[in-house]
Amino acid sequence: MQFRKSGIRGLAGVAAATALLFGAGLYSLSVSAQPKLDIHFVPTPHEVVKRMLELAKVGPNDTHYDLGSGDGRIVIAAVKDFKAKKGVGIDLDPQRIKEANENKAKAGLGDTVTFREQNIFETDLSEATTVSMYLLTSINIRMRPKLLKELKPGTRIVTHAFNMGEWKEEHNESVNGYQVYLFIVPANVTGKGCQRR
Ligand SMILES: C[S@@+](CC[C@H](N)C(=O)[O-])C[C@H]1O[C@@H](n2cnc3c(N)ncnc32)[C@H](O)[C@@H]1O
Repeated sequence: MQFRKSGIRGLAGVAAATALLFGAGLYSLSVSAQPKLDIHFVPTPHEVVKRMLELAKVGPNDTHYDLGSGDGRIVIAAVKDFKAKKGVGIDLDPQRIKEANENKAKAGLGDTVTFREQNIFETDLSEATTVSMYLLTSINIRMRPKLLKELKPGTRIVTHAFNMGEWKEEHNESVNGYQVYLFIVPANVTGKGCQRR
């Protein structure tokens, strides 16, 4: 009897340990599956989106990229309201890509808008003619060499809240207390218009 009881306890212990290990395994899997974001999602208010796209002069000849596209609102507005011929949103978070695709469907947009689950530092930007970013100054500065290398001269970049460090903006203004900046990719690679601030 004594032996039988400890056998049951032993079995229960093994079962509990297995459950714990299984749970821990699932937890570590889910933690490691989380993308390593440079910044979390905070949406740009719609009135600020509108002004950013106005400042970038987005129109029918443009392919607009939003780097860190969140729920897709800027890309959707670029195509739906500003008639850009193509819109591309890049976000590393699969949840944001899912939401953006749901919002695209609600807006009745088709193949002119795509959302890609990618890292902005690893995405080919060369087809963009207008770009938007709501990141951080430190991320904008890390992106700067890539923007200047891959984007064509004349490409308009609008940022929300954060500037580009030493790359001086063409224009900045406040939209209901939200700061927005306009940058234009210069023709000269060496100078690159990065005047000291
Ligand atoms: C502040 S939100 C801006 C969302 C949207 N652009 C807007 O203005 O409404 C920044 C977004 O960048 C995404 N993100 C952060 N790091 C990223 C990276 N390295 N590559 C791609 N997306 C990233 C986040 O998932 C988040 O959706």
